[in-house]
Formats: sequence, structure tokens, C-alpha cells
Amino acid sequence: MPQTSEKSRPAAPSKPVVAPYIQEKRYCKPGEWIEGLPPLYIVTPTYPRAEQLPELTRFAQTLMNVPNVVWIVSEDAPQSTQAIVDYLKECGLKTVYLRVQMPAKYQKVKNKPRGVANRLAGLDWIRANAKDGVLYFADDDNTYDIRLFEQMRWTRGVSMFPVGLVTKLGVSTPIVKDGKVVGFYDGWIAKRKFPIDMAGFAVNVQYFLQRPNATMPFKVGYEEDGFVISLGIKPAEIEPLAYNCTKIWVWHTQTKKNNPATPVVQNNATKGTNLDIIKNLIWKGNGNEAETTHKNKGVS
Ligand code: UGA
Ligand code: MN
Repeated sequence: MPQTSEKSRPAAPSKPVVAPYIQEKRYCKPGEWIEGLPPLYIVTPTYPRAEQLPELTRFAQTLMNVPNVVWIVSEDAPQSTQAIVDYLKECGLKTVYLRVQMPAKYQKVKNKPRGVANRLAGLDWIRANAKDGVLYFADDDNTYDIRLFEQMRWTRGVSMFPVGLVTKLGVSTPIVKDGKVVGFYDGWIAKRKFPIDMAGFAVNVQYFLQRPNATMPFKVGYEEDGFVISLGIKPAEIEPLAYNCTKIWVWHTQTKKNNPATPVVQNNATKGTNLDIIKNLIWKGNGNEAETTHKNKGVS
């Protein structure tokens, strides 16, 4: 490796320069809270795997740019993942950690209703604790443009917007004409009344609280449709966002699955070094790896 000469290096600062939020042992800039601005209740289902902490870190650092967020992270796991619990405490955002498990009868089937039990736990928390604002289901692996959050904050009933990277059509969106939702463009219609993606709609909290029977079914592929139907909204009442659905501000990105890591070999080169710590940070698997392999939704 070429050596940097002392002369070409910038002078070391007399005191280390550290951003104030790092000094407070926060790992990202705390989310801002502005009095009077409707809060966003963002429900994120998650589950233990190699990519879990990276996904949640990426999303946290998106949310730190959005004021008045309550981030409800709901983990589908037999035990809480300590690294996640710790990260949520330290990230500086207003967070709520919940843990539930997918009911045993669904765990056994090949095509599982992913994220439903934990989204339902998030909805229970909102019913018990929230009074106003807007709720949104945000999967941990999607990519979000923060402009979407500013628009959904003003949802009066149910708002909808395009989601990129869904099916071979590359997008799932309401079809909007003269400012009204007149249909849906989606690669998997499948007799759904609302053929939309989980990331493609937001709901006013008061509107949701006024509908005590609103719930999400454990029905693979029909989770979003079932939930929006249970709200009793008519397609004509839907509020199209993202400039009448002309912008894509959320994408259904999917992260490559990583295998559990090979354990750090214990020898004179590794023992007594930083690897004693690193070895506890790498994902060694939880025995369910075969079951969590990614499946794409069917395309009709
Ligand atoms: C698509 C939709 O975007 C999801 O909203 C829908 O729940 C899912 O299909 C489905 O119907 O199964 P996809 O990218 O295929 O999503 O699924 P994942 O990203 O693997 O899972 C969706 C969410 O559920 C993620 O936030 C994930 O962390 C969580 N999840 C996944 C669990 O909580 N438990 C699991 O066992 C698997
Ligand atoms: Mn996903």
C-alpha cells in the first residue's frame, strides 16, 4: 500500500470535531417535533435475518429527515433481537418497539402471510395510543422519498400513490383522471377491489379509529385489499397524492438474501483484537434460513 507522507496530510484538529448528536451517543440526527403538525404513525414489520439491521438503519436515516414521526417497529420473532432494540433506543427517533410472532398455523405453510401479525400489533398500539395524524405501513426493505411523507401527512380519509418496482409492469398505481381515482394499474389484479401495494396508501388516524372493525386479513396477496375494504372507503373517495399519481416516491426494492456468516476463526491472528467484538455483530443465522427465502408475488 502506498504510504501517505506526513506533509500531504491535513493538520490534525486540536480537538476532535464531533456533531452534537454523536456526542449524545445518538447514531443519527434526532427527528424534529413541530407542535401542531399532524404526526405520522409509521408501522414497520420486520423479522430477524442478516439484512435486518442494515435495512432498519437505512430507513431510520430516511425518517430522521421527516418531522413528527412515531416509528412503530414490530418484530415477528420468538424473542426480541437485542441489536434492534438497542438501535431503536439510540437512533434518536421517537420509536415504539413491539414483538409478536406469526401464528404457528401460518408458519408451517409455504406461502406465508408475511408481516400481518406484526402490522396488526401496530394497529392495536395505534388504537390504544394515537388520537390524530396519519398511519402508514412501511416495509423495512422499501425505498422512500421523504416528499411522500410530507404529502401523506394531510390525508383526510385514505390516500393512494404509485409504488415503483412492483411486478413486471414496474409500477403499481391508481389510474387518475381529472383528479379522481378511476381504476388501478397493477400487474396482479386477481379480483382485488383495491389492487395496490402495501406501500401505496396511507390512512387518517381518526378515520381509522372511527372504524373499530378495520383489520388486515391473514390472506397472502390480499392483505392490502382486505384492509382497505375493511375501512369501507369507496374508490371515488380516495385522495390521489404525488401530484395526481404522476410521481414515484416509493419503491418496492428487494435486498439480496445473505447466508449466515462463517464464524470468525479463533487463533493468534484474531484473538485479543477487534475481531473479538466483531464476531458478535455478524449474523450467524437462527435456523430458519430456508423458510425466509424471498418469494415474489405472482403476476397474472
Ligand atoms: C410484498 C408486499 O410489499 C408486502 O407488503 C406483503 O406483506 C408481502 O409481499 C406479502 O404479501 O407477503 P415482499 O417484498 O414480497 O412484500 O415481502 P417482504 O419484504 O419479505 O416482507 C414484507 C414485510 O414483512 C417486510 O417488512 C418484512 O420485514 C416483514 N416480514 C417478512 C415479517 O415480518 N415476517 C416474515 O416472516 C417475513
Ligand atoms: Mn419487501
